Amino acid sequence: MESKEDHCSGGGRWRCVWRQAACLFVFLCFFLNGTEAQIRYSIPEEMKKGSLVGNVAQDLGLDVKRLRSGRARIVTGENVQYTELRTDKGLLVVHERIDREQLCGDVTPCSFTFEILLENPMELHPVTIEVLDVNDNAPTFKYNHLQFEISESAALGSRFVLESAHDADVGANGLQSYILTPSDHFVLKEHVSGGGKYAEMVLQKGLDREEQSRLSLKLVAVDGGNPQRSGTVNIIINIIDANDNAPVFDQTTYKVKVVENAIKGTHVLTVNATDSDSGSNAKVTYSFSKTNAEIKDTFHINEETGCITVAKQIDYEKEKTIEFMVEAKDQGGLTESAKVEIEVTDLNDNVPVINVMSFTSPVSEDSPAGTTIGIINVKDLDSGENGHVRCAIEGRVPFRIKSNVRNYFALLTDADLDRESVPEYNITVVASDSGSPPLSSKMTFNLKVSDVNDNAPVFPVSLYTASVAENNHPGVSVLKVSAKDPDENQNARVSYMLEEREIGGTPVAEFVSVNAESGVISAVRSYDYEQIKELVFIVRAQDGGSPPLSSNVSVRILIQDQNDNAPQVLYPVQTGGSVLAEMVPRSADVGYLVTKVVAVDVDSGQNAWLSYKVQKATDRALFEVGLHNGEIRTVRQVTDKDGVKQRLSVLVEDNGQPSRSATVIVNVAVADSFPEVLSEFTDFSMHDKEYNDKLTFYLVLALAVVSFLFITCLLLIISVKVYRWRQSRVLYHSNLPVIPYYPPRYSDTLGTGTLQHVYNYEVCRTSDSRKSDMKNMQAMSQSLVSVDGADADTPHVTKQMAGNFSQMSTLVSLIFCHSFSVVVFKVYTAVRRLQYCHLAC
Ligand SMILES: *[C@@H]1O[C@H](CO)[C@@H](O)[C@H](O)[C@H]1NC(C)=O
Ligand SMILES: *[C@@H]1O[C@H](CO)[C@@H](O)[C@H](O)[C@H]1NC(C)=O
Repeated sequence: MESKEDHCSGGGRWRCVWRQAACLFVFLCFFLNGTEAQIRYSIPEEMKKGSLVGNVAQDLGLDVKRLRSGRARIVTGENVQYTELRTDKGLLVVHERIDREQLCGDVTPCSFTFEILLENPMELHPVTIEVLDVNDNAPTFKYNHLQFEISESAALGSRFVLESAHDADVGANGLQSYILTPSDHFVLKEHVSGGGKYAEMVLQKGLDREEQSRLSLKLVAVDGGNPQRSGTVNIIINIIDANDNAPVFDQTTYKVKVVENAIKGTHVLTVNATDSDSGSNAKVTYSFSKTNAEIKDTFHINEETGCITVAKQIDYEKEKTIEFMVEAKDQGGLTESAKVEIEVTDLNDNVPVINVMSFTSPVSEDSPAGTTIGIINVKDLDSGENGHVRCAIEGRVPFRIKSNVRNYFALLTDADLDRESVPEYNITVVASDSGSPPLSSKMTFNLKVSDVNDNAPVFPVSLYTASVAENNHPGVSVLKVSAKDPDENQNARVSYMLEEREIGGTPVAEFVSVNAESGVISAVRSYDYEQIKELVFIVRAQDGGSPPLSSNVSVRILIQDQNDNAPQVLYPVQTGGSVLAEMVPRSADVGYLVTKVVAVDVDSGQNAWLSYKVQKATDRALFEVGLHNGEIRTVRQVTDKDGVKQRLSVLVEDNGQPSRSATVIVNVAVADSFPEVLSEFTDFSMHDKEYNDKLTFYLVLALAVVSFLFITCLLLIISVKVYRWRQSRVLYHSNLPVIPYYPPRYSDTLGTGTLQHVYNYEVCRTSDSRKSDMKNMQAMSQSLVSVDGADADTPHVTKQMAGNFSQMSTLVSLIFCHSFSVVVFKVYTAVRRLQYCHLAC
């Protein structure tokens, strides 16, 4: 009864009262039923083993002894015997731990029943034991934590059912309520369903994963026991990302420099955008903004990394800065863009380009130093120092370059030019920029120097000497003079002409002519060494410049002697018929000088070196001729046997090649007295007589012919005269006009001149000299004009008179001829007579 005491001594006095009242009720039931009294106890669960449940003996009204004798025992259909009957004291005590929750679960009230069996007599007493609940169980959750995945975009008011807790206790000891902490995002709402209580979380404030990606809450379930018990479960809320954030670039404008001509693939920059979302919502891809699509050709962007590389060579000269937008995009489709400004830095990649604005070639050689010959323009597309161009001339040439305006250069001569020494220049202009390394380009100008007539023709020698043999053909070329003119073309076209002067009173042009083109000097006439031995004159060479320049050279032509003259015998004089003889006395000694043959030769030198030989002689042994002096001397003593009449034929020969000779016949009379000689020489000349008779005959014949012609002409003229006189008388009487007829181009009856005149000139015209040509032409034209003039202008009266005059002159000349013939004949006969006389004497 201690526990009863305990119960009662506690706060619940009234409960003990109620319990004692219940015991009393058990009693009453017992008595009413008689033999089968029923006992009912109420005990709290979880009492200690051995704890008193109730005094059965007393309650049944049985003696302890009866219990013992009756071998009272508990019978139950169940295996577990919660109570034990202590027969010695008649007490019922707890035998096994009684757990109400195990015994009854949620069923209330909870009780179990068994019987107490007594033997002798057998009595059966049912006992019901009600087990009262004790708050021995806390509310429990099945899991110790709950996990939720909630999108951050979940709408407010969204409900999330939480696991309900279980409390094995019943009644007030059972589950009473839930508490959720913390409660800033969610509120708890409790529901009762099927006897249980469950709770829901209701979202009352928006979630932001980016702020807090995970929430940790506690759900506490409390019961109503005293002391109160509770159970807790942790709620973990993972906030699922919603794509509520766009990517964000780390810079709004990226500025970067890129060297032009960077090779393909060169890294330019890496743009970076971050997305505070997670997962695929935070996966950013990069692209060029569609607004500048052409950028795609120039750059490449890596979609994943945002690395921008060069896709095509960039030319600074085309674009100095490049601006474009890049776009970052997450998987959810949110985009953001940033600006990229690329500054292209210049590289010295452009060669200066030379453009010729003007260039003058050829340039005259007399251009003064400083003459502009060309203007060039140099372009370099690079900028700064890379585009700063300087020009220079390569090599040593007399030119310089001057910069006028920026990038314009003038090419000037720097010295006097001389075409004769350098006719053309290759001027190489080098344009180089100031880059590092510098680039340069070249251009070569071919400048020709044009000629100015600044050089006179020059003869290689100051004197030309040539020789020509006499008796040359007219027109033969003697020598060639040649002058060189270093100038060009017309200025170097040398023509030759004779300087006018006289040689022995005759103009030089009558001796020689010079070919104006070739400078060949030819003889105009045949020279005679015996008349002129040398020709000295001056030839002028003149170029074709304007004004022309000229120079002189002396020419000396030596005329060489030819053996063109035979020796001439001066003594003894050779006459036709008469024979002159040298007298040699018979007493003459050996070596007696008979005579001397004197001969000359007008040639000179060897050609005039004479030698004498005996060609024929009556007696070869008697005379000899001095080889060189022509002296005829006796070789031996003259004897009586030698004839009076000796005849020597002496050959005079010069030393020319071939030699020329003359023969002289020397008659020698070997006698002591003149009559002896005479008698000998009369018949000596007998054979000459025959010859003389013949001559006389021819002379008589000629005289007869001349006389005949004279008489005939005389008769002819008289008859013509008489005829004309009669004719004129008839015409005078008829009063008709006289129209005399003359044939056209009537010329002199004598025909002495014109044609023949021209012909003469033609023959002589051997020279090519302009001067002589001109002269010839003049001569010809003049003579032609005179023919025409005479024809046209002379009145017919004058003509008639001229006709009469010519007839008269014919007559006179005939008379003169006749008289002359007669005189010749007379003289001839006289001479012959004299010759005979001489011989006779
Ligand atoms: C100039 O150049 C041309 C062409 O290359 C060449 O024929 C000529 O001989 C050169 N002249 C000089 C003076 O170098
Ligand atoms: C050539 O000779 C002529 C006459 O003898 C003279 O007048 C002239 O000056 C000379 N010219 C030259 C270039 O010597």
